[in-house]
Amino acid sequence: MIYHEVTKEDVNNMLKCNSITKKYKDVTVVDELSFQVKEGEVFALLGSNGAGKTTTIKMILGLIQKNGGEIEKKQDLTIGYSPETPFFPPYLTGREVLTYYAKIQKITKNTINAQVSELLEMVGLEDSKTKIKVYSKGMLQRLALAQALLADPKLLILDEPTAGLDALGRVEMMQLIGNLKKQGKTIIINSHILNDIERVCDRGIIMKKGKILGTWEREADHQGKSLEEIFVETVGGIG
Ligand SMILES: Nc1ncnc2c1ncn2[C@@H]1O[C@H](COP(=O)(O)OP(=O)(O)OP(=O)(O)O)[C@@H](O)[C@H]1O
Ligand SMILES: [Mg+2]
Repeated sequence: MIYHEVTKEDVNNMLKCNSITKKYKDVTVVDELSFQVKEGEVFALLGSNGAGKTTTIKMILGLIQKNGGEIEKKQDLTIGYSPETPFFPPYLTGREVLTYYAKIQKITKNTINAQVSELLEMVGLEDSKTKIKVYSKGMLQRLALAQALLADPKLLILDEPTAGLDALGRVEMMQLIGNLKKQGKTIIINSHILNDIERVCDRGIIMKKGKILGTWEREADHQGKSLEEIFVETVGGIG
């Protein structure tokens, strides 16, 4: 029998992607990608449009099949997900949406109301007479975050949670994410807004055409370079 030696690193890992690959016909959009996400960290998937970030997330969530590689998840890992383009039934209110999602997630009936109220307050949508059809982008993104938090998951996956938000909306969203980190959540985040990433993320990978071209760590010595400068240097160039 072969025993796998459990290292300290393994114990801290919440999720490990080993050489995962996704192909659409003969085009490889995620190419033997490997990375690990540690418990309690905010981890960024960075890369230009089409780099394969959303595809990677969808493989982690099991929404699409991979063509190769392995994804190891910590035992009993629960995941909350806020998609790239949140969509909710337009004639419902925020409260009705969360209540509906809570019911399909089998959250204990008598705690649903309290939990929904707490989440609506957290994301600043407690005035919930407003129907989704008149929600602004910022309100939709905040409702999507609340929806991702419903079952109190250990891992949160947020695909572009600040897309389309104005400067204040972005700051507020990143503050919410920072608070969730303080509460012990592990978070994977995709974003093109590198200032936002620098504000709350601990580590990240920079992808292009499904491969890792570089990594970024908040604590590393970047010799005065911003993440934006590092990003442009890393993915820059044609092709
Ligand atoms: N269902 C599909 N069929 C064929 N190609 C696809 C499909 N879904 C994604 N792709 C391709 O896979 C590549 C990666 O797409 P993906 O959505 O993962 O990129 P991304 O990094 O999330 O980009 P963005 O920053 O624009 O959201 C793109 O070239 C895209 O066209
Ligand atoms: Mg995407």
